Amino acid sequence: MHIVHISVEMAPIAKVGGLGDVVTSLSRAVQDLNHHVDIILPKYDCLNLSNVKGFQYNRSYSWGGTEIKVWFGKVEGVPVYFLEPQNRFFYTGCIYGCKNDAERFGFFCHAALEFLLQSGFHPDIIHCHDWSSAPVAWLYKDHYMHYGLSKARVVFTIHNLEFGAHFIGKAVGYSDKATTVSDSYAKEVAGNPAIAPHLYKFHGIINGIDQDIWDPYNDKFIPISYTSENVVEGKQAAKEALQQRLGLKTADLPVVGIITRLTHQKGIHLIKHAIWRTLERNGQVVLLGSAPDPRIQNDFVNLANQLHSSYGDRARLCLTYDEPLSHLIYAGADFILVPSIFEPCGLTQLIAMRYGSIPVVRKTGGLYDTVFDVDHDKERADAQGVEPNGFSFDGPDAAGVDYALNRAISAWYDGRDWFNSLCKTVMEQDWSWNKPALDYMELYHAARK
Ligand code: ADP
Ligand code: GLC
Repeated sequence: MHIVHISVEMAPIAKVGGLGDVVTSLSRAVQDLNHHVDIILPKYDCLNLSNVKGFQYNRSYSWGGTEIKVWFGKVEGVPVYFLEPQNRFFYTGCIYGCKNDAERFGFFCHAALEFLLQSGFHPDIIHCHDWSSAPVAWLYKDHYMHYGLSKARVVFTIHNLEFGAHFIGKAVGYSDKATTVSDSYAKEVAGNPAIAPHLYKFHGIINGIDQDIWDPYNDKFIPISYTSENVVEGKQAAKEALQQRLGLKTADLPVVGIITRLTHQKGIHLIKHAIWRTLERNGQVVLLGSAPDPRIQNDFVNLANQLHSSYGDRARLCLTYDEPLSHLIYAGADFILVPSIFEPCGLTQLIAMRYGSIPVVRKTGGLYDTVFDVDHDKERADAQGVEPNGFSFDGPDAAGVDYALNRAISAWYDGRDWFNSLCKTVMEQDWSWNKPALDYMELYHAARK
C-alpha cells in the first residue's frame, strides 16, 4: 500500500510536540511492514537540514500564483518531500505562531495535493493530521478526487481537539476514516459536536513510541548504555550526569522530572504544586518546559528565581526546548510527572517507561490507557495483560497530585528493592508501534473497502 502523510510537523527536524514524533514513528513502523510511505512537509527556513539524508532539489511547479520548489531527502529513513513556495509563507523562523497560520497551512495543504496530482502520484491513502492539515480532507473530496487522484482514501487523525475544532469537524466529516490517539480520548470527545455525527467512522488507536529513537542502550545523550538488566546502574550514572550538568547536589535523592509544553492542557497549577511537594519530601525536581504564552513563561521565570534562593541545589527549571537534555532527564529521573488536565495520548509517560522511569500521571485520555496504578489498578492491568506500572490520581486539584506523588516518593524511600524491580518491569513493557501500526494498517484497509 502507498501512504502519503501531509503534515506540518515531523520529528526531529520540525517538531513542536508529539504530533511530530507520531508522524515520523508511525511512518517508520508502517514502512517496516513493507508498505511505501512518503511525507509531505513545508520547507520551513528553520528546518534542521543536518538531519536530512541526501537532501536535493527534486522539481518545481506552479500553483496559487507562485512557483513551488520541491526538495527531497530522507529523515530517519522515511522519504520526505519538502514544499518551498516562493511566496515566502514558510520563511518565518517558526512552525506555528504567525497571524496567518491558517492561511499558510491552508496553502500548504492545497499545494501538497497539487504536487501529488502534477507529479503523477497515486497513493492509496492520504493521511492528514489535526487542524493544520485538515483542509486536505475537503479539498480532496470536493476537488482532487474528481480530477486525477481518484484512487486515494483520506484518513484524518485528531491529536488534539482543543485547537481548531471547527476545521477538525469539517475534516472528520469529509474523511473516510477518522482516528484519535487513544481509546479513552475517543470516548471523552465522542459527544463533541465536531465528532458526534461521525462516530461510525471514528476510532481510537493508541500511539506508540519508536524504540530505536528512544533507546537507553543506544543513546548518545546519556552516559552509559543500559537495558532492564542493568537499569539500576544505568539510571544511577544518568542521574549523576543530570545533577552535575544542572548544578544540583549530587546525591542519592528521588528525582522527579517534568518534560512538557507549558500550557493549560498540561496542568500548570498541578505542576507548580508538585514542585513544592517534592521539595518538602526531600526530593529533587527537574522541569524542562517551553511556554508559548509569555505570561506563563514569566510566571515560571519568577518561580525559578524563588526556588533558586531556597532550593538552589534541589530544583532546576529549564524553560526552553532541549531535545538532548530531555533524553538525560528521561534516563536520570526516578519519576516523570504528567498531571495533564486532558491528554489525547501523551508520549512522555511512554518514553519515561522505556528509560525505566516511573510515570506519575493524572487519569485522563491516553494517560489512563497506559498507566496502571500499582496500588489500585491490578485488575484493569490484568485485563490489558500488563503489570501495574506507575502512580495515578483523579481530579483536577492539588489533593490528587499529592496523593500520587506522596505514595511514589514513599515507595522510593521505603522500598528500594521493590522500586528497582518496578523500574525493570516498566522497561520491559511494550509501548512500541508494533501493535498500533497493525491497527492503522487494518484501518487503512477498511478505508479502502
Ligand atoms: P504534546 O504533543 O501535547 O506536547 P506529547 O507527550 O504527546 O505531548 O509529546 C511531547 C513530546 O515533546 C515528547 O517527545 C517530549 O519529549 C517532547 N518535549 C516536550 N517538551 C519538551 C521540551 N521542553 N524540550 C524537549 N522536548 C520536549
Ligand atoms: C497531541 C496531544 C498528545 C499526543 C500527541 C501525539 O499533541 O496533546 O496527547 O500524544 O498529540 O498524538
